[in-house]
Amino acid sequence: MIEDEGRRMFEPESWEERYAGEEKVWSGDPNPQLVAEVAALTPGTALDVGCGEGGDVIWLAQQGWTVTGADFSANGLDRAKRHAEEAGVAERTSWWQVDARTFEADGRQFDLVACHFLHTPDGSMVDVAGRLATAVAPGGHLLVVGHAPSEVFAHHSHHDAMFLAEELLPGLPEGFEPVVVEQRPRSTVRDGVRVEIDDSTLLARRSRSV
Ligand SMILES: C[S@@+](CC[C@H](N)C(=O)[O-])C[C@H]1O[C@@H](n2cnc3c(N)ncnc32)[C@H](O)[C@@H]1O
Repeated sequence: MIEDEGRRMFEPESWEERYAGEEKVWSGDPNPQLVAEVAALTPGTALDVGCGEGGDVIWLAQQGWTVTGADFSANGLDRAKRHAEEAGVAERTSWWQVDARTFEADGRQFDLVACHFLHTPDGSMVDVAGRLATAVAPGGHLLVVGHAPSEVFAHHSHHDAMFLAEELLPGLPEGFEPVVVEQRPRSTVRDGVRVEIDDSTLLARRSRSV
């Protein structure tokens, strides 16, 4: 079980603090699994949930997508919007403040719904994946990527929040066909040390007829 202090880091207040300063929190580079999977798709409309500072939103917009960046942090969304303006893609982007844990599509549909490294503390990523799937248009795709449980993160309180791609499958509504369900190895640098981690990657396609 995640203790109270650890649980706090999953709440909006904690992310607002992280995004309140001037310093960039993320690299601004697009996530590798997004780049790998989107290459085969025809650009259309996309929703990126947990968009943070907007690196993936900007990259998608540069590939020709019309993108809505969503996050529960107003400070994060402000940063993302500023970065999109600086990158010259403001006209292809819009912003939506939402909590993925209570996400409702409200009738909006996107050709691609992506969610990278958004973790919840209580095993509710299955529910989150199901909620996000409701925003996928017929024939569209849902891409959810997160950290697989790993010794690399063993000292972090959010170890329990990590997931395997196959654990999300029960959240998919009827009419979704899994396309990729795997842990993909990735080499990265954390706290100045090169480490090997796995990206849990779920790509599912919604049937055109459901
Ligand atoms: C680890 S960052 C990842 C940012 C970006 N997707 C990336 O991969 O670089 C997680 C982001 O998800 C947002 N987030 C976390 N929990 C959320 C939730 N329940 N609903 C909406 N956004 C959430 C945070 O504010 C943060 O910007």
